[in-house]
Amino acid sequence: MSLFVTFEGPEGSGKSTQIRRLAAALEAQNVPVLVTREPGGTAIGNAVRAILLDPARTEMSPRAETLLFHAARAQLVDQVIRPALAAGQLVLCDRYADSTLAYQGYGHGQPLAPLRLLADYATGGLTPHLTIYLDIDVREGLLRKQVGSVDEWNRMEDKALAFHQAVRLGYLALAEAEPDRWLVIDAAQSIEEIHGAILTRLQALIATKPPAARGVAGNSIVQKE
Ligand code: TYD
Repeated sequence: MSLFVTFEGPEGSGKSTQIRRLAAALEAQNVPVLVTREPGGTAIGNAVRAILLDPARTEMSPRAETLLFHAARAQLVDQVIRPALAAGQLVLCDRYADSTLAYQGYGHGQPLAPLRLLADYATGGLTPHLTIYLDIDVREGLLRKQVGSVDEWNRMEDKALAFHQAVRLGYLALAEAEPDRWLVIDAAQSIEEIHGAILTRLQALIATKPPAARGVAGNSIVQKE
């Protein structure tokens, strides 16, 4: 299928629930699916994730944070995503380069132009065919996350409400700028309604069968261990 689909959203928007539901629905239709997430998805990425999200590392500078997210992403693209696309799989990724624009760009107020250049370098230009954005009121999302699992609370979630509000507005601006790539969904709807909207869009995308993910250049794909 060679389709690359990413999920984005503020904290507690329900991405992981929807990714699980979607993967199960596609697998039931015999679509080969690979699910992965950021930061993480590889041994190196998970080691970087532990540094990034450790609540004790309050001294981390926004630029160091940006580069670490991109380092984990570069490894995931080379080791997992490109090989899966080359093998004809449909890749569902929980967060991708748009997260860095939203969190480190809009959230921390870093200029977007260099962040876009870094994203291009880290991903080798690999852009998703579709980005599903689950939009939720920031307070509501953070509350959901706190109630869901206190143990998973991390350094990013610990940031002030104003940070998360800037992230959400950033996402909405990114989606507005590229309406063909983004599907914006109101995450206050029921799990079933959201799943239905995502599945409908995915099935339409599968029906169009794009020849290959943008940035994936045929036999030039090399899996690096
Ligand atoms: P995680 O527990 O995976 O949260 P979620 O379920 O919301 O994806 O933690 C990832 C955190 O890292 C989350 O707060 C978003 C943040 N993040 C960035 O700030 N920049 C990035 O580029 C990425 C991928 C994530």
